[in-house]
Amino acid sequence: MPKYRICPSILNADLLNLDREISRIAQESDLLHLDIMDNIFVPNKTFDLSESQRIIASSPIPVDVHLMIADPDDSAAVYALAGATSVTFHLEASTDVGSTVESIKSAGARVGLAIKPGTPFSAIEEYLPLLDMVLVMTVEPGFGGQSFMAEMMPKVRQVRSAIDQLPLPTPWLQVDGGVTLETILKAAEAGADTFVAGSAVFRSPEPAAMIIEMKNLLNRATLI
Ligand code: DX5
Ligand code: ZN
Repeated sequence: MPKYRICPSILNADLLNLDREISRIAQESDLLHLDIMDNIFVPNKTFDLSESQRIIASSPIPVDVHLMIADPDDSAAVYALAGATSVTFHLEASTDVGSTVESIKSAGARVGLAIKPGTPFSAIEEYLPLLDMVLVMTVEPGFGGQSFMAEMMPKVRQVRSAIDQLPLPTPWLQVDGGVTLETILKAAEAGADTFVAGSAVFRSPEPAAMIIEMKNLLNRATLI
């Protein structure tokens, strides 16, 4: 397993040519990040269930589903059953984190728990031992192309230090929002190991080359 993972988000890809867009980045990417929004939990709507099922079934690489929906407790497992490798839901939207974690796991996927910028580390702390991934949002969820919130880095550090006290295998620590060549090292230095990048990748003339550049940056930084 690589030390760092890059997960391109297709939210801002050319959705009319999605298969082609995915094939352009598949070889360099660790996971394909699929943002599901319901226009309730966030003020935006994306892929419905049948579109999501089609994308998951046809993706040449493992799919990392990020649910920004108001009722994850009822529907999270559906994405796992559709074949997603990882399903992440928001703490703020869940009324029963423990049973949603269990339903995702029993449906065969890795489970992630996400927190919005306003949610403190303390809200997620008790769940860490149950998780395969923690997602610390570095923008308000809802849209691609926003600026990275460097003020989230103390929270990333808190999660990292708690994760490092858990028995192996420890959860991955993902950041999502505003990740670019300029910001990725800030997140890595704070302890993130899994990076979602949407517009930085798909708005680049050479999306695959952008992913390689991000990985090179991360790998060079760890040598210092
Ligand atoms: C935002 C989504 C992100 C988004 C990231 O709510 O969860 O995954 O696609 O896009 P960028 O990298 O452009 O901030
Ligand atoms: Zn996302």
